[in-house]
Amino acid sequence: MYILSGSSNESLAKEIASLTKAKLIDRNVERFSDGEIKILIKDSVSNQNVTIVQTLSSSNHLLELLFLIEALKAQKVKKISVIIPYLFYSRQDNPKIGEPLSPKVIIKILEASGINEVICLDLHSKKILNLFSIPVKHMGTARLLENIIKPDYVIIAPDAGGVNRARNVAKHFNLPLVSIKKTRLKSGKVSSTLEINGLKDKDCFIIDDIIDSGNTICEAANVLVDKGAKTVQAFCTHALLSNKAIQNIENSKLDHLFITNSIDTSSKISKKISVISIAPLISEYINLKK
Ligand code: R5P
Repeated sequence: MYILSGSSNESLAKEIASLTKAKLIDRNVERFSDGEIKILIKDSVSNQNVTIVQTLSSSNHLLELLFLIEALKAQKVKKISVIIPYLFYSRQDNPKIGEPLSPKVIIKILEASGINEVICLDLHSKKILNLFSIPVKHMGTARLLENIIKPDYVIIAPDAGGVNRARNVAKHFNLPLVSIKKTRLKSGKVSSTLEINGLKDKDCFIIDDIIDSGNTICEAANVLVDKGAKTVQAFCTHALLSNKAIQNIENSKLDHLFITNSIDTSSKISKKISVISIAPLISEYINLKK
């Protein structure tokens, strides 16, 4: 099997190639002077199965992926699978009048490129899976927490949209679940409230899919500490960590944040943040399919 790495997360692609004993395809991803993407696949892979690794956290990542796919198709590869650890534009998945169903647009573009299969991780909501008409493998992340979550933790959903995800983790570890009520304020900030008591001296563990500005997690930590929580930790699969997110986290009441490498965050370092690799999880699936 061959792995083709986009430029969005090369370290993850290398880790997956090593764990699956796949050959990493030699390629160049360069830029023209105006910033346009210029692709060259140097190896010959005609009639081979190729798995591309490209996380999608910016529009350029999507364009680059489409060009990589086109370059592979020109070589007449047998099958193209795409590992998309983070699928962007998934948050507008429940449109009100006048809003687009954004993930549908992204998925349509991907499918039109002629790929055969998508492998993805912790989508914003499971109903996004129904938008695919090609085979899609969706992976949850509970298993990544097996050495982290302790038997006396309380699992916390930071908002109504995250209850199913947090419930899955609570069930996996047989732990209680508490759900916070989050309201998005006009300023882009969020306000969180928690009706129930009973968290005094508890170790709370928040589960979320995305951490972007960090407001959701920091606000949830405030509410939990106000309710008497002894410690508050969080796990967010996809660490966008935009703008002042790191600063927000460092100044917050959150004790520790676990993220994954679904998005390359190597330039964003904090003592409060640990990164868990998703490569073993994805590689296990690929190895099982061999
Ligand atoms: C919301 O629906 C998501 O699950 C996350 O809670 C949200 O995207 C986190 O964003 P931020 O870190 O900016 O609060």
